[in-house]
Amino acid sequence: MKRNILKIFSLACVATLSTATADAATDSGVKVEHLGVNNTLVRVDGDARYLLMPVQESNDDAKINVIVDGKLDRTIYVRLAKSKVDYQVPFDLSGYKGHKVVLSVVTSQDRGSVREASDDACWSNFTLSDTFDTANREKYRPAFHHTPLYGWMNDPNGMVYKDGVWHLYYQANPYGSKWQNMTWGHSSSKDLVNWEHHPVAIEPDGLGTIFSGSSVLDPRNTAGFGPDAIVSLYTSAAESQIQSLAHSVDGGMTFEKYPGNPVITLDSEARDPNMFWYEPTGEWILTLAHALDREMLIYASPDLKNWTLRSAFGKGLGAQEGVWECPDLFELPVDGTDRKKWVLICNLNPGGPFGGSATQYFTGDFDGTTFTPDRDAEGKVPTKWMDFGKDHYATVSFSDAPDSRRTVIGWMSNWQYAAEVPTRQFRSANTLPRDLRLFTGADGQLYLASAPSPELDALRAAQVKKAGKTSLSANPRKYPLPSENDGICEIQLGLVSRHGAPVTMTLSNAKGEKTVMVYDPKQHTLSFDRRESGIVDFSIDFPAVTTAPVLGSDDKLSLRIFVDRSSVEVFGNDGELVMTNLVFPTEPYTTLSVTAAGKAEMTSLSIWSLNPAK
Ligand code: FRU
Repeated sequence: MKRNILKIFSLACVATLSTATADAATDSGVKVEHLGVNNTLVRVDGDARYLLMPVQESNDDAKINVIVDGKLDRTIYVRLAKSKVDYQVPFDLSGYKGHKVVLSVVTSQDRGSVREASDDACWSNFTLSDTFDTANREKYRPAFHHTPLYGWMNDPNGMVYKDGVWHLYYQANPYGSKWQNMTWGHSSSKDLVNWEHHPVAIEPDGLGTIFSGSSVLDPRNTAGFGPDAIVSLYTSAAESQIQSLAHSVDGGMTFEKYPGNPVITLDSEARDPNMFWYEPTGEWILTLAHALDREMLIYASPDLKNWTLRSAFGKGLGAQEGVWECPDLFELPVDGTDRKKWVLICNLNPGGPFGGSATQYFTGDFDGTTFTPDRDAEGKVPTKWMDFGKDHYATVSFSDAPDSRRTVIGWMSNWQYAAEVPTRQFRSANTLPRDLRLFTGADGQLYLASAPSPELDALRAAQVKKAGKTSLSANPRKYPLPSENDGICEIQLGLVSRHGAPVTMTLSNAKGEKTVMVYDPKQHTLSFDRRESGIVDFSIDFPAVTTAPVLGSDDKLSLRIFVDRSSVEVFGNDGELVMTNLVFPTEPYTTLSVTAAGKAEMTSLSIWSLNPAK
């Protein structure tokens, strides 16, 4: 990376100036002029591709009005450095060639004088450069999970499959590794494993920043954007939240916004529109999170532009503690038969079973107007959770996936501490892709199973362990984990505990850091303890034990455990139980130990080293 560290101005000169301008001309194409205690102009001159902006994460956001040839082009918020520079973020200048660019920076700190303001570390660290370093060198950056190239990411959204390509859009901040400046980032994949990064797909505009939404194909050309278009609906978020439309005719790379935006307005907070084609009535259906009312609104439309409210679902039902966000409504076969039922995903934050964010869902029926939830034997609508870890949120599915697949990806973090996790150049990864199905639990209720998508098998490098039947006791059986690529691996094991003895599986390293999973056949639970898993002290909400019900009726449990550099995902009985948890061991886990508090058996064990995704 080219680093033109700029010599910007002389403090002595600033101190003696009594006029508003504290001049700081440079030979580097950046000129800083202080206009007052909280306002500074940064003039940019030259042909460089990027203006690199210095960030200090603990600082407040500065409001930056980007003025091009005297007109306000956009406003962005950046945590400009005050006492030290943590990292730089790129502001892309390539669209402004031949124009005059001035940043009018408004900071919010209390300052006694312009002299004090001019001491901020940021002013001497604005850098013009033709390159921006996105090298993937952070210790905790996952090796086989999707992450943004740099900067902050939350919800995956707008996901759609078209012409052999899985498009993953996501909530992104291009100007820092904490939440802000929401745009739709974009990655795509031909195999759900290797992801290619693309330029930002949808950027903020006068209606607001770009919150979550969904995308569909419109082969019937109902919207008039052409039969090949990808049509996306998202929330424009400013003083209020309204719903806006955009479409792409270049395979999802660039989007044009609909001039008639917004297409849905309400007098209360609503977001994350998720649409699909409903064949029986030949129209589009949309679910929209009526966030603070904790319900999902259901709309219909003939053309993706004109939407009519049909019904609302959820008031008083399920988990109601937090706001409802990111809905998804779809039909799935039951127990592998021709029988179908509907699933309504209602992400919720906070109020998850282990605190903070989580994904609940309802099973039921949908008739084009109303979603009617299933009830249990007592006539109650049960609360069901899709994943029993702490780091599974905003999960929604790809539209138009091939072979009738319902493939989902979630955000692998939790609003409780997502902005504090020990990474810097990027923050947050997505979960592994999962394919959904419905199954009947021992209680007769329908549940969602989320199995690892079959494409993930391609990650396997070498089978480093294969064992048949092995009896378990209090004496630990120890298996080394692969050491290549920081120990990333997949572990498959089958357990039987006929007499109900709990079985403990521990991932550990030489430093004594450990992640402990306990299968308790009597309680029908699997628990996951990350209290001593590595770095846990960045948030009081991080150390935790999460517990999942084992819904099958027998004493057997088969597990697939995916260990990446900063996460462990556990899938039980082909996805009938799922737990997604972040962990930050200071060294990779090197050993799997298995013990039983009584008589139990491991029916099989396989450990694969995995290849990093490309
Ligand atoms: C969920 C969410 C959405 C919203 C987005 C904003 O995590 O709060 O409701 O659209 O994040 O980034």
